[in-house]
Amino acid sequence: MKSVQRAAITAVSHYVPEDIYPNTWFESKIETSDEWIRSRTGIIERRFAPQDMATSHMIVRASERMFADFSIDKSTIDCVVVATVTPDYVFPSTAAIVQNALGLKAWGFDLSAACSGFVFALETARRMVESGGARRVLVCGADKMSSIINFEDRATCVLFGDGAGVVLVESIEDDTVGILDAFMGMDGSGCDSLRMEAGGSRHPASHETVEKKMHYAYQDGKTVFKSAVVQMADAAYQIMSRNNLTGDDVRWLVPHQANLRIIDATAERMGLSPEKVMINIEKYGNTTAGTIPICLSEWHAKGQLDYGDTVVLACFGGGYTWGSMLLKWAIKRT
Ligand code: UT7
Repeated sequence: MKSVQRAAITAVSHYVPEDIYPNTWFESKIETSDEWIRSRTGIIERRFAPQDMATSHMIVRASERMFADFSIDKSTIDCVVVATVTPDYVFPSTAAIVQNALGLKAWGFDLSAACSGFVFALETARRMVESGGARRVLVCGADKMSSIINFEDRATCVLFGDGAGVVLVESIEDDTVGILDAFMGMDGSGCDSLRMEAGGSRHPASHETVEKKMHYAYQDGKTVFKSAVVQMADAAYQIMSRNNLTGDDVRWLVPHQANLRIIDATAERMGLSPEKVMINIEKYGNTTAGTIPICLSEWHAKGQLDYGDTVVLACFGGGYTWGSMLLKWAIKRT
C-alpha cells in the first residue's frame, strides 16, 4: 500500500493595496485619536483597496506573484479554496472568479470562518492532499474589509484593513517538514457578538436593511476580546502540549492580528519571548482571513523563515471560531 505523504506549504505570497491610511486619517472624521488606537490595538496604519478592486483582484495579484516567484506551472493546480467574509458576490464563489481570472483548470470553493478562515482552509487543503483527493491546492485568505466597514462607527472602523495572502499546499517527499497537527474549535453562541446581519437569507437586502446599517460589520469588542484572549491562547497552548513542545521548541508564533494585547497574551501562555512572534498589525490592521498568510509571506520574503523551523499558527474569529496549527516550514530560503 502506498504510504500517505505529508502535506506542506511549498509556496507563499501576498498582496496589500498601495493606499495607506494612518490613524490620524480618522481623527478628522470620527471622535478618536492615534493614541487611543495605538494603545488599545497596536495598529498604526492600514491599507484600503480602491473602490474598483474586489477581494478576487487582490487574490489574483498575490497568486500571480507567487506563480512567478516560485516558478509554478499553474496548470498543475487542481483546487482553489478561498477563505473570506467579503466575497465578490454572494454567489458565484470568489474561488470561481479567481480560477477564471488565473486561467486555472481547478475546481474550488469559498470557506466562511471569518478571521479563522485561512487556518480552516489550510486544514481542509491538507486533508484533501493527504487523502489523495487533490495534488496541489491554492489556499487563499483575503478580505476587503473596507467594503463592509461603517466609517461612522469608531468602535469598528479603525480596526480593519484590506489584504490577501496565498499559499500552495501539496505533498512532499521529506517527511521531516510539513503540516504536523491542527486543533480547531467553534462556539456558535458567539454569533451575535461579531457579525454582518443583512444580505443573507435571514435579512435580504432591502431599503430597511440599508437604512438600519445592517450591511456593515458589527462587533461587541469587549465581549469578543474576552473570548479571543482565552481561546486563541488556549488553542496555541493545546497544540504545543499535545505535541510535547515547550516555548523553547517553537521558532515562530504566527497569530491572527486583531489586537496586540491578544497576541501578547497568547505568546505569554506559550512561554514565548516577543522576538519569536510575527507581528505586522501596526502596518495592516486586521485583514481578517488575510492576516496569517500575509505574515508568512512577509517573513519568508525577509529571509527570516528557515527550512525546518517549528511554526505555530493561532487564530480566533467570528462564529466564534478558533484554531491552531503546527508546521515545520518546508520552503527553502532563496
Ligand atoms: O478579529 C476577530 C476577533 N476580534 C477581536 O479579537 C477583537 C477583540 N476586541 C478588541 O480588540 C477590543 O475590544 C477593541 C480594540 C475593539 C476595543 O478595546 P477595549 O479596550 O475593549 O475598549 P472598549 O470597547 O471597552 O471601549 C473603551 C472606551 C469606550 O468609551 P467609554 O464607554 O469608556 O466612555 C468606547 O466608547 O473607548 C471608546 N472607544 C473609542 N475611543 C476612541 C471605542 N472605540 C474608540 C475609538 N476611539 N476608535
